Amino acid sequence: MTEPDPLAVWRRHAGPCVLLDGFHALKHALRFGARVPVAVTTDRAAALALAADLAPDVREALDGLLAEVPREAYASLVARPHPTGVAALAVRPPREAGLRALARTPRRAPVVVLDQPRNLGNAGAVIRLAAGFGATGVVTTGPLDPWHPTVVRGGAGLHFATAVERLEVAELPPGPVFALDPEGEDIRGLKLPDDALLAFGSERSGLTPELRARADHLVALPMRPQVSSYNLATSVAMTLYHWSATGGAPRVP
Ligand SMILES: C[S@@+](CC[C@H](N)C(=O)[O-])C[C@H]1O[C@@H](n2cnc3c(N)ncnc32)[C@H](O)[C@@H]1O
Repeated sequence: MTEPDPLAVWRRHAGPCVLLDGFHALKHALRFGARVPVAVTTDRAAALALAADLAPDVREALDGLLAEVPREAYASLVARPHPTGVAALAVRPPREAGLRALARTPRRAPVVVLDQPRNLGNAGAVIRLAAGFGATGVVTTGPLDPWHPTVVRGGAGLHFATAVERLEVAELPPGPVFALDPEGEDIRGLKLPDDALLAFGSERSGLTPELRARADHLVALPMRPQVSSYNLATSVAMTLYHWSATGGAPRVP
């Protein structure tokens, strides 16, 4: 039987699938159960050596998946060639599965809500944080698509490790809303419950009136006077860290 042409398989799946750009994105997606119909590399031996070195748990899967293609063919598939010369397509999980995961109770880890975020890189960094802390998911409100290729690139393949969906404020899953705002109550005196929705405002204008109306608590991160605010993704990092340090999140083995 002849091997299928990887570029033909790529063209067939490119529309509905998401691009995994680089070795590490593919590694993470495989670890968290993504379905990957095609993966290419400009140097199979180098990619498998990298797997043996950094990710032996997925080496066998990569051995079965990776097809070597000429550098020009690879470059035609990606906006910017990645230093590892690896790219793959992954099937985006159905929205219903994401919504089910977000709505499931009792919830053992918070949902991060980004209210009208603007910056695709920030959204990707937040999804990576949510995956790292084992958050239930990341919800965005507003026009930004949390599965935009630039967000997926920033998330390093970790969209598959948490639920990622776009919703209206009125559709947010159940749970107490802790909205982060410099005018709120100092986070250091609070324990964030596992079923919390941790909400963060947009880079430009902060929390929307709709999100404020849904908030049960306004929470502030310690910040010296005269500093106006922190970056969105760093605010999420501090808040998830606080949740983990005050009882949430499994211990690192
Ligand atoms: C870059 S800030 C938004 C700044 C915006 N110019 C404003 O008017 O709020 C993005 C989000 O990060 C969170 N944030 C930043 N600094 C914070 C702080 N010191 N305390 C609590 N939340 C903060 C808030 O959720 C905020 O809406």
